This record gives sequence, structure tokens and C-alpha cells, in this order.
Amino acid sequence: RLIRMDGSEFLGETQSLLIEDVDGGPVVMLIIRDVSERVAAERENSLLRAAIEQSTEPTMVLDADGFVLLANPASAKLHGVENTDLKGLQIAELRGGRQGDALHSEIRSTIMRGEAWHGEVILKKNRKKPLVARRISPVFDGEGATRWQILVDRDISEERRRQEKMAHVQRLESLGVLAGGIAHDFNNLLGIIMGNVSLARSTITSRDPIAASLKNIEETSHRAANLCNQMLAYSGKGKFVVQPINLSELVEEMSQLLEVSISKKVSMRYELTPLLPSVKADTAQLQQVIMNLVINANEAIGEQNGTIVVATGQVDADVDYLRSSYVEEEILEPGPYVWLEVSDTGCGMDSMVRERLFEPFFTTKFTGRGLGMSAILGIIRGHNGTIKVYSEAGKGTTIKVLFPAVGDLAPVSLTAMSDSAEQTIQATGTVLVVDDEEMLRNVAAAMLKSGGYEVILAEDGVDAVAKLEKYRDTIDCVLLDMKMPRMGGEEAFTEMRRIKPEIKVLLSSGYNEQTATNRFAGKGLAGFVQKPYTLKKILAKIAETMAG
Ligand SMILES: Nc1ncnc2c1ncn2[C@@H]1O[C@H](COP(=O)(O)OP(=O)(O)OP(=O)(O)O)[C@@H](O)[C@H]1O
Ligand SMILES: [Mg+2]
Repeated sequence: RLIRMDGSEFLGETQSLLIEDVDGGPVVMLIIRDVSERVAAERENSLLRAAIEQSTEPTMVLDADGFVLLANPASAKLHGVENTDLKGLQIAELRGGRQGDALHSEIRSTIMRGEAWHGEVILKKNRKKPLVARRISPVFDGEGATRWQILVDRDISEERRRQEKMAHVQRLESLGVLAGGIAHDFNNLLGIIMGNVSLARSTITSRDPIAASLKNIEETSHRAANLCNQMLAYSGKGKFVVQPINLSELVEEMSQLLEVSISKKVSMRYELTPLLPSVKADTAQLQQVIMNLVINANEAIGEQNGTIVVATGQVDADVDYLRSSYVEEEILEPGPYVWLEVSDTGCGMDSMVRERLFEPFFTTKFTGRGLGMSAILGIIRGHNGTIKVYSEAGKGTTIKVLFPAVGDLAPVSLTAMSDSAEQTIQATGTVLVVDDEEMLRNVAAAMLKSGGYEVILAEDGVDAVAKLEKYRDTIDCVLLDMKMPRMGGEEAFTEMRRIKPEIKVLLSSGYNEQTATNRFAGKGLAGFVQKPYTLKKILAKIAETMAG
């Protein structure tokens, strides 16, 4: 640090030389150079270097031809290599993906025009093959020519994964709405068919030549109703009554049913954990899940010999464990889960099938409907559970469904709750049948009449209220549809209770019991009957309602 005559300071570099004067005497020559600018430039240089080195943004400096001059540690980490390994490499070699040469020349010409390029690339050196959003800007020399390039990456793999999952979920949701709507309408139509058939059957003897045809119609309608049931399950609108269930017991009780559903060449093995915590679930829906899984396993094995293993157990699931499942992790609570697993030694699935597995109507089978797995997904969502799939083509499949465990509830024995209404009850009383679908109304009326009841009909809520006002003292019970024009079931219910507070109302709907009855909570609804119903079912329900 030196001081000029005028008092100002500057940074100087001094050099002294010993030389001879003209007489050969020793002279010291002192050279002073002002280096302020050079030192400032050096400082700036190391600042720039440190900024790039230490930046958490993965950054590289390339020459005009795309060779790496400098890569910061963040970039090396993103590429999955050691810091020094990137230097000298051609940037195109670090990229994966399909576009290859075309992409290379696109980037090159953009940069050479002096413009910045941005786009998405996959890094291939990293085992995880991350997807990155990349920005490359040209760096010009003094003459304005592109001499270098500066490149900044951002890892967007996780973001993209979430977006795709969301899009998938939304697509499945809209399909669910569609499937639920179709199923609801079909249920009404099937109600008419089944009602008429069971009425017709009840008027003839089994030796009547028409008996076999009627039986066929009835069985086929039941199969159609089952399909509707699958669709309703997928849309989350299936029948739904939750109670604590022990999954191991449920499987044991189903074992006979399962064994007759699979091929003789397939052996069934159980690995059931005793003393499992309960899950809160709808028995029929869980049976549907297990049945669908086992049938798929059996179909995957096909004509070969093979084994199906049904196992149960429990797991303390953390966020990571739940992340790798098929339901968005955001809506799942980490904690104890009870699982049920069905493994098979069948054909397995490739990635294409795995991806579309839960799509309604996706099937690879000639006679498949593609509803089994989508129904399972719907049911599982309805139970706040999730599902994991492990499968590879040619290597078999394991599908694991998980339900939140409930600790303190004792499981209910299943045998105690099977259908109790066996005998047809000859009864008396007057029922007001409210339904906007004329055929459905008529068949319900005919069924009730055959059971000994008097029937009054109403075509919607307004009509129902009017009829009740008129026949207030005659009507004992109302069979009420949910969805009707003018006045729906809910409003009609309130009105009717006002006219006759002790009136017994049995709600009927193609939707699930919970959705349908939620709105009536605490209002004194007498009961619920799921559409479509058979003669036996509706008579039992009405008798129950009248008695209760
Ligand atoms: N255990 C399994 N092993 C191999 N592939 C399976 C397995 N389970 C399901 N899949 C594949 O997933 C597809 C969809 O299954 P899903 O149960 O939804 O429909 P499906 O069995 O074809 O028809 P549906 O069950 O309605 O009769 C199947 O067609 C099959 O390709
Ligand atoms: Mg299936």
C-alpha cells in the first residue's frame, strides 16, 4: 500500500533491480507498478467462482461446443457423479431420453443465435434418472460471439410424479362419477325386471313350463345387479355398513367359497395372523375385495398348476411406506394398519398393465369386464385404506390391501348377522309407495299386494304429501324413493313427519345406505332398503318397519 504525493493511496507492486551505472558502480533501480485494478479483478473472479461453486442450484459452465469447463458440487450430485468426473465431458453425453441428435442441434442453434434455451431433459448417469428443467444461456466474449454457455438445472422429478398421480386420480374420479350414474339407472331398471320376475314366479308352481325361463331371467338379473354393484363400489356409492371386522376370521369364513371359485389345479394356502386388530369395514365389501383378488389370481394362473396364498398381518405404516401405494399419500394417516395380501404364481403384469390396472373397464381378458380392480380401489378409498401392487411379467403378482387398524373394538362375529328374514310374512297394513319411475312404482305395489298389504301410490314428493294428508289415518308406512323431481325424498320426509309424526318411513335408493341416510340422521327414519330388491327382501323390510 503506497501513498502518492497528493496523499491518495494505491496498491503497488514493487520490484528492485541491482544494476551498474555508466562507471560500473552499483545502482538500485526500483520499479513501482499500480496493481489496484488487477487485484480487484482477481477478487471479483474468486467471488464469481465461489458463488458458482457454493450455489445450491446445479450449475455448469460449458465452452461453445458444449464441453464442461466447470461444474459445481450441486450439479455433480444431481448427475450422480463425483465433482471432477464431469469436467471435459460433452454435455450431450450426460443426457438420456429419446430426442438425441435433434435435441442437440436445437439447443446448439438456439445458443449460437445468442438466445437462451430451456426445456426438460433426463440425466442418464444418475441411477434414479432424474427429470430436470434445464436453462442454458449463452455467454459472449468481447466481440459479442458466443464463447461459453452457462447451464442451470432444477430437479422436477418429484413435482412431475405428483402431477401425474393427480391427473390419474382425477381421471379415475370422473370415470367413477360416470360408472356410479350408469349403475344407479341400471339398478332402477333391474328393480323393475327382478320385481316382476319374482312376482311372476310366486304365482306359479315349479312344474310350470315357464318356471325355468323365469328362473333364468331372475338369475341373469342378479348377475347384472352384481355388475352394477361393482360399478357402485368403484364410484364409492356401494352399500356400506361399517362395523369392526377381523380380517383373518373373515378369510377363514370365506375359505370354502374361495376354494370352489378357483381351478382344481390351483392350490390355496393361508397364512393368517391370529389376534389381528379389527378394521372398521363393510363385510360385504371386504368379501368383494377378497373375492375379486382371488379370482384375478386364479385367472392369472390360468390352466397351469399354481398356488395362491392369502395372508393377513399388521404393519406400522409410516409416510414412506404409504407413499409407494396407490392412494394419494396426503389423505392417508401414518399409523397401524391391518393388511391382507393375495399372491399368485400366475402370469404377472408388465408396466403397461400395472399402470392401467385400476382403470374401470380396463381388461386384458377376453371375457373380462375390467371392473374387479376398480371396484377394489373404490372400496378401499371408502375405507380410508390403500393398496400396494408388486408384479412383474412372468413372475407372479402380490397385491396387498391395507386398512387402518382400530385397537379397542372387539370384532363382531359374522355368523350372527346373516340374513334373518327367511319366511314370507302374510301381513296387513297400508303402504304409501313413492317413486317417480312408474314401472318401479307398479312393481313395488304388486309385490306389496302379494304380501297382503294395501297400497297407495304417489309419483313424487308433492304427490306423497298430498296423499298422506288425504289418507292420514289409513297409511301405516311409506316406501320412499330418494331422487325425485319437484320434491325429493328428503323434503317429502320432513313434510310427512309434520303431517303425521309417528309415520314410519322406509327409504329406498340405488345409492349406498350411508350416502342416502346421512341426510336423515337423527330425524327418525325407520329403515333403508337397497335397490334393486327382491320380493322376499322388500316384504321382510316392510314387516320389520311396521313392527318396529
Ligand atoms: N393377479 C393378477 N395377475 C396378473 N394380472 C392381473 C392380476 N390382477 C389383475 N390383473 C390384470 O389387471 C386387469 C384388470 O383386472 P380387473 O379385475 O379390474 O378386471 P378383469 O379381471 O379383467 O375383469 P373383471 O374382474 O371385471 O371380470 C386384468 O385384465 C389383468 O390384466
Ligand atoms: Mg378381475
